[in-house]
Formats: sequence, C-alpha cells, structure tokens
Amino acid sequence: MNDYELHRETLAVTHGERGQTPAPGVEDVTIPVHLSSTYSIPDVDPDADLESLDPDAGEYLYSRLSNPTRNALEHRLAALEGGTHALAFVSGTAAIAATMTAVVHPGDHIVAFEDLYGGTKTMLNRLFAERLGVDVTFVDATDTDEVEAAMRDETRLVWMETPSNPLMHLCDIEAIAAIADDWNAVFGVDNTFLSPYFQNPLSLGADVVVHSTTKYLNGHSDSIGGAVVTDRDDIMDELAFLQRVGMGSMLSPFDSYLTLRGIKTLPLRMRQHEENAMEIARFLESHDAVTRVLYPGLESHPQHDLAARQQSGFGGVLSFELDTDPDGTAAFLGHLDEFPLAVSLGGVESLIEHPATMTHSPLSQADRDTLGISDSFLRLSVGVEHVDDLLSDLDEALATV
Ligand SMILES: Cc1ncc(COP(=O)(O)O)c(C=O)c1O
Repeated sequence: MNDYELHRETLAVTHGERGQTPAPGVEDVTIPVHLSSTYSIPDVDPDADLESLDPDAGEYLYSRLSNPTRNALEHRLAALEGGTHALAFVSGTAAIAATMTAVVHPGDHIVAFEDLYGGTKTMLNRLFAERLGVDVTFVDATDTDEVEAAMRDETRLVWMETPSNPLMHLCDIEAIAAIADDWNAVFGVDNTFLSPYFQNPLSLGADVVVHSTTKYLNGHSDSIGGAVVTDRDDIMDELAFLQRVGMGSMLSPFDSYLTLRGIKTLPLRMRQHEENAMEIARFLESHDAVTRVLYPGLESHPQHDLAARQQSGFGGVLSFELDTDPDGTAAFLGHLDEFPLAVSLGGVESLIEHPATMTHSPLSQADRDTLGISDSFLRLSVGVEHVDDLLSDLDEALATV
C-alpha cells in the first residue's frame, strides 16, 4: 500500500523513519541522531550536482546538503501535509523567509493577510518591502473580495494564516486559492496554528504550506524549527537551493530528531488540546467576568461555519477578554498556577499570553485598539493536562476579577 494511503495516526508514528540508517546490518526502529557533518564518498564524480543530492539514493556528502535524520523528518512532514516535497528549516521564520525568497523578486507584489504573526509582518515590511523592493499590500482576508481587489499583474505571492493570532480570524483557503490561480500567483499558507492534523491547505488549493515546527509539530517546547511542504517541483528546486546553499538554514540533526519524536504523538496531542480548549472556551463564555471569547469551535464565533468546513478540528488556542482594567488583569494573571505567562504555543503544557505587553507590544496603542487587542485581552495555548485542573485554576483566578 502507498504510505500516503495510511491514516495520519500511522504516518505520524512510522513514515520516513525506517531504512534511513546508513549503518550496514542495523535496522533501527527509531532513527538515531545522525551527527556526522561530513561523509566519505566512494570515488570522484565530475558530474555531481551538490544542490540536488538525493538522500533517498544514499547521496550524502555534507550534512548542510543532506542528513539522514533530517531526511526522515522531511519525508514525514510531506506525508502529513499530503505534499510531494518537504524541507526542514532552522526556524519557522527561516522557512517563511526562504519560501518568500523562492517566489518573489524585486518589483513583484505580495498580497498578505493583515492579521499575520507579528514576526512575519515585520519581515514583509522591513526585509521584503524596505530592502528588497517588493511591494506588499495587507488586506482583511476574512473578506475574500478584499483579496481579489488587491491583486495586480505583478502579484507573485498571496500569503495567509488561518486562524490568525491572537484574534482567531479565518480566511477561506479554497476561495483564495482560486483567486491566486486566476492571477498566476503562488498561494502560501502558514498552517502552524492547526498543524497538519486539523488542516491541510494543499488539499484546498494552496501551493505551499509552512509551519513553525516549534509549536504543535514538535509539541514539547524544547526545539525551534520550521518546515515547508509543497507539490510544486519548481518551488521545491528554489527552496532546496536556498535551504542548502543560498541561506544554509537547514534544521540540525538533533532538532530533526526531537521533531520526529514529537510528531509521533501529534494526533493524540491535538485531540486532547482541542477537547480541553473546547471545554475551557465554553466555561469562559458562560463566566460573568469574561466579556468575549474567540474560539472557532464555539457557535458564537463569526466564522464557525467556515472553520467546520475547512478544518477537521478547532485547535488548542483561544483568546478572551476580561471585564476589568490593567490592574485587574495583572491580579488575574498573578493568581494562575497552571498557566505560566509566556509567548509561544502548541506545547503539551498550557500557557497564557498578554498580547498588549508581549507579542503585540510593538504595535501602537491606536493600532491595538483598532484590532481589538485591549489591555485585558489574553491568549491561551491550552495544553493536554487534565481539564478539571485547568478549569479550577481559571475559576479561582477569575474570582479575583
Ligand atoms: C503562526 C506563526 N508562524 C511563524 C512563527 C515563527 O516561528 P519560529 O518562532 O519557529 O521562527 C510563529 C511564532 O510564534 C507563529 O506563531
């Protein structure tokens, strides 16, 4: 049977890992961390193409170019997203930078969701627009017509994230894919928030998918990494050049190993993240001290129907607003035991984040007000702990509001 016909629960545990060890006679069940930086080769090959060494054909020369542990991870990532190619990068940021660089040139135009991860927005403004001469238009992509209206002949790339952070806005991947297609633009989706377990943008028409593997894919808050998955050979060729030669931004063997190991439990973790997040969202929605809850799994979410249609689950991140002032918010945060105040998300442990002073502090107060990020607005990354412990911790802290 073709491996891709297996269920994701099976692919997550086994795909790509067996048969990767070059040591003769050793059939590892889990791939070792293959640390060698260089490999001896049998003879001189005047025709060797260093940028496209094929690890599956045993072509190993130098670990920046190909490495068995990274190769195993890349196979698994491709299988989980349902793509033909995957590459693992040193961070999600590096994966995004390489993907954009692979597609756009000076004079080109990018249409992007205004509600992107802050680092991606800064990259688009400070690197692509200011330094590389690429025009960038940010749109409210919850309205597909705005995406269409921003398209131009020079638009080479459309870049989306859904759901967005921390406002949990969604965009319609299938509809935007059709627009990008009409304009011959590449459509990239950052799928970090849902992981390949709950959403597969390639199957909805996207050309390329990126992940910060730092989040759900690795899942244990102990590795920084990124990934790109695509079906397009032309994009893969450019990305491979950038990963191995142009930027040298490939994932290390140890982080590749950690991520492979983390992925084995991705389906189990995602189901628990979602179950806990749904219970917490319903609890917060019914609490007097909470003015609003943003979670696509709630019927009250304005894009609940779209979420139910294009996702196979609602994920583990939600945001909510307290009915209090900054001092009340600080007191609430101080009373929590099970939710450390920390950025990032997607680990097995629950975290709480205060966007106004943390992830979104670079924005002006006016911009935060426009977006609806008040001083009492909070984001939860709901972990896989017992939900009753999380609920009683929140309940006790809410009593102080
Ligand atoms: C949606 C999203 N994309 C990309 C990134 C960047 O990933 P990394 O921190 O691995 O570079 C983040 C980080 O928070 C993120 O939330």
